[in-house]
Amino acid sequence: MSSLTAATLFRCGGYYPSCKPNVPAGGYRPPTKAAAAAGAGSGNGVLAINRSSWRCRSTATASRETMAGRRRQEKKKDVADEEEEWRSYLVPERLEVLREIEPWVEEHVLPLVKPVEASWQPSDLLPDPAALGSDGFHAACLELRERAAGVPDELLVCLVANMVTEEALPSYPSGLNRLEVVRDATGADPTPWARWIRGWSAEENRHGDVLNRYMHLSGRFDMREVERTVQRLIRDGMSVHAPASPFHGFVYVAFQERATAIAHGNTARLVGARGAGDAALARICGTVAADEKRHEAAYTRIMGKLFEADPDAAVRAMAYMMRRRIDMPTAFINDGRHSGGDFYARFIAIAEKAGTYTLSDYRCILEHLMRQWRVEELAAGLSSDGRRAQDYLCALPHKIKRMEEKAHDRAVKAKKKPTLIPISWIFDRPISVVVP
Ligand SMILES: [Fe+2]
Ligand SMILES: [Fe+2]
Repeated sequence: MSSLTAATLFRCGGYYPSCKPNVPAGGYRPPTKAAAAAGAGSGNGVLAINRSSWRCRSTATASRETMAGRRRQEKKKDVADEEEEWRSYLVPERLEVLREIEPWVEEHVLPLVKPVEASWQPSDLLPDPAALGSDGFHAACLELRERAAGVPDELLVCLVANMVTEEALPSYPSGLNRLEVVRDATGADPTPWARWIRGWSAEENRHGDVLNRYMHLSGRFDMREVERTVQRLIRDGMSVHAPASPFHGFVYVAFQERATAIAHGNTARLVGARGAGDAALARICGTVAADEKRHEAAYTRIMGKLFEADPDAAVRAMAYMMRRRIDMPTAFINDGRHSGGDFYARFIAIAEKAGTYTLSDYRCILEHLMRQWRVEELAAGLSSDGRRAQDYLCALPHKIKRMEEKAHDRAVKAKKKPTLIPISWIFDRPISVVVP
């Protein structure tokens, strides 16, 4: 799973017209006796102005309350509509397609899980004390530490985020097991769906392991802080939209797996021989990225099949997910030194600067998936809602691109100075980054 989203692009709040109270310049001051006396006769003095101010403030307050009430009602209605929309995917006739394609899953998806005998293990990629003996193991560890010493801090922080995301694995099969029909109800179901979920989870389990062990041996991380972050993230969980609908769930995971492959792949390139010079770490990240590509292929294939079987439901599910933004599992990540969502926003800026995952990656993933699922070419079988969803999706990449450009222009105009952000994972050494 990956660590980032183009969240900042989508966090543009709505515009609400402001109504400033009619306060005299310099604020309210009690009238002097003389002024009060003068005003009492004419009805136009300071006192009158202040009455007028009071009236305006009252009107403004009432109008603000009305607007707030209206917004609350609208929000309630939106939530109810959203709920109705994704719950419509849980009717038996719509879910039937998931049962019907089980033989296809057996034939076309399950082969994308590798047999254990053919799989790499973390021990293959790290010094093995049993094979090397005491001296050999020590020498290999020293070599690993020497190479790790050249990796810059911002890449170390990105590596931790990649690793923590992988270590939060328990949240992900729980998510898939909330999906109707495909869930592994007993924990050992023989259905192709359940076998896929278990096989996929077992492969994912190695990702956190190998990264964790590398980090432990490298000596460059405050492992206790990293471990606390993992515990926090699993405890806080993750929330996804439309939690029980397989159509929506598979859109999310297909997006996620591609994002993850990109993040690990970029990290491999940046820490490797042509970058920071740690070839062993590059091999680890590259190996994990290759797994992610295979997982991406599986989920993209599943969603492609659903597009074939029920294009209207599939395109509406995709639009639903994109309208609400694909939030990454690490949206709740925190190194323990920052409050609320502060850390995530700062981490996004660090990853952008390091180049492990940039804002334009979000758009590129969307464009890629739309090509894979031929969203633009869909014609037959679309309802009017389906066509609206298709139009929305086709216009979205261009809209995101414009938002990227605007965000870039704003950043250039603002000439913001970099902020020093201390990160607990690297012993509170600060990262210098411009936070939007
Ligand atoms: Fe993974
Ligand atoms: Fe994966």
